[in-house]
Amino acid sequence: MRALVMTAPGGAENSEVQEIGTSHPGPGQVSIDVAWAGLNFVDVMTRRGDAAYASGWPYRPGKEVAGTVRELGEGVTGLAVGDRVAAAPVGGGLAEVVVAEAVLTVPVPDGLALGAAAAAPLGLATAVLLLTDAGRLTTGDTVLVHSAGGGIGSAIAQLVPLLGGGGTLIGTVGRPEKAASAAGQGYDHVFARDAELADAIRTATGGRGVDLVLDPLGTAALELDLDVTAPGGRIVLFGNAGGGAVDDLPPLGRLMAGNLSVTGFSHRFLAATAPERLARAIRTALDLQANSGLSIPLTELPGLEAVPAAHDAMQEGRATGKYVVRVTG
Ligand SMILES: NC(=O)c1ccc[n+]([C@@H]2O[C@H](COP(=O)([O-])OP(=O)(O)OC[C@H]3O[C@@H](n4cnc5c(N)ncnc54)[C@H](OP(=O)(O)O)[C@@H]3O)[C@@H](O)[C@H]2O)c1
Repeated sequence: MRALVMTAPGGAENSEVQEIGTSHPGPGQVSIDVAWAGLNFVDVMTRRGDAAYASGWPYRPGKEVAGTVRELGEGVTGLAVGDRVAAAPVGGGLAEVVVAEAVLTVPVPDGLALGAAAAAPLGLATAVLLLTDAGRLTTGDTVLVHSAGGGIGSAIAQLVPLLGGGGTLIGTVGRPEKAASAAGQGYDHVFARDAELADAIRTATGGRGVDLVLDPLGTAALELDLDVTAPGGRIVLFGNAGGGAVDDLPPLGRLMAGNLSVTGFSHRFLAATAPERLARAIRTALDLQANSGLSIPLTELPGLEAVPAAHDAMQEGRATGKYVVRVTG
């Protein structure tokens, strides 16, 4: 089968499509004929060599797929060969066949295209969990999202009203030219991060501050987050887009003075420690796509060969919206 392989840390020069052997599922697993796969920033962080992402080199990227069940491992119930499914494999999803845990393999509702479903297992499920489990969104909350123009940022903008939010939605982007794309997804205000951000955000909230911050920028924006969060607000840290070292978290006194909470979120560790919670979020995301109009802008790549250049665009902060790649069919 054909698979994207990252041969060593670096950039597109170290990513190539190779012919490799097909894996078979072990107990509790399924193999999937991949029709479409989603691209995610975690594959970019792995490719550039960020600590603790690749299990070794060569590395096979790809953590979300949609396709059909090819083979069932021992003990798997509730799925059948040929079922249309979306899944969150540990890796190797940018390939014609992938093995995934059955618990993280979810049926795709009738009528939902597999290209759209490929955005659910990692990207949309993360956005659902950021707003619900981690962020505890309530009606009327003002929400601030950093990197609002990307895949996760677009999903959050669409999910806030679908999950019962409805308050002011503020996004930040690294480049001014990404502001229009973020605004098109539903952000009420979008600011480039080189602006006088704290004042702009306070003005946008009528001076009250924000109730929920969703921040994938390591600790680079944490001081700002603490500054603009209203009493009782929640700050969810869910990435380290810039790579490199992160600062210590704020001292207890600062959190107590602001009545603030700071929460971490990780799809990868939730998949390992509480997979049923992640599976529930994948089901929610697929259901919202099939029945409630959730539809983020997808850039559809024609084949695995196009993935390294798309990873370049993501790595350089040029990408907007979500990328999915047609793998077979
Ligand atoms: N914790 C989790 O489980 C989890 C799951 C999924 C995604 N994430 C995180 O969520 C973020 C969005 O993910 P995505 O897949 O939707 O990707 P994406 O938003 O399409 O692309 C990543 C974005 O990160 C921003 N960025 C900030 N500093 C950067 C830097 N130094 N180098 C490159 N990019 C930088 C860029 O947007 P701006 O310049 O506009 O900020 C870039 O477009 C990523 O940081 C990712 O790691 C975390």
